Amino acid sequence: MSSMTSLGFGIDIGGSGIKGAVVDLDTGELATERIRIPTPQPATPDAVAATVAQLVSLAEWEGPVGITLPSVVLAQRALTAANIDPAWVDLDVHELFSSALPARDLTVLNDADAAGLAEATFGVTEARSGACILLTFGTGIGSAFLLEGELFPNTEIGHLLVDGKEAEHRASAAIKDNKGLSYAQWAKRVDKVLHEYERLFRPTAFIVGGGISRKHEKWVPLLTVSTPVIPAQLRNNAGIVGAAMAVAKQLRP
Ligand code: BGC
Repeated sequence: MSSMTSLGFGIDIGGSGIKGAVVDLDTGELATERIRIPTPQPATPDAVAATVAQLVSLAEWEGPVGITLPSVVLAQRALTAANIDPAWVDLDVHELFSSALPARDLTVLNDADAAGLAEATFGVTEARSGACILLTFGTGIGSAFLLEGELFPNTEIGHLLVDGKEAEHRASAAIKDNKGLSYAQWAKRVDKVLHEYERLFRPTAFIVGGGISRKHEKWVPLLTVSTPVIPAQLRNNAGIVGAAMAVAKQLRP
């Protein structure tokens, strides 16, 4: 690593794992091995904050830290908890993590927004031009709206009602697993959701991320929307990279 490299640290808090690494902010690549610690159960704020502090100390990182949450984060307060412990709602998450990691710069942001930031800078070119919607398919459906690569945060369209049911209850990757759906069966559900998003937002492109985008050839070709659907280039590490970028840019949604 040259001494000119600028480094950051990102942490992605998910339902099953808390993952973090040093990020090379010039290339968007991880500069160290990713550390993963299982998410404490129940995933209460204090337990998660203690795990975050443990991860940073294992990494021997002393600088600024960016942290993602699967939640709306407004003025550094978590406002929702769709797939996390209800104790997070209306919590000042900046204060929570500052007491676990005192005396350093911190930013907390939504996990899909972090993935969007990372993709717009280091991923597919479609993410930095036009009006694009990045979606992450996992336990829920996360969304990041990007206009010419700039983020409009906290859009949460995984909760949009599509034919009377929340999009993420129809078509998250977890639904595919829980119901034992084939790719073809699941793609139909995703297609229905994308048609509704297309009707309402007319983006220039959908960018699809989350672990399941690694197998994009099994489902993306089955989609019938006219908007181009492009697999994200950054896969599992997008949240970590975006979190590190957000704190380096002093972005505090
Ligand atoms: C949450 C979002 C999150 C998404 C992906 C949804 O249930 O409401 O905030 O981005 O899951 O984790």
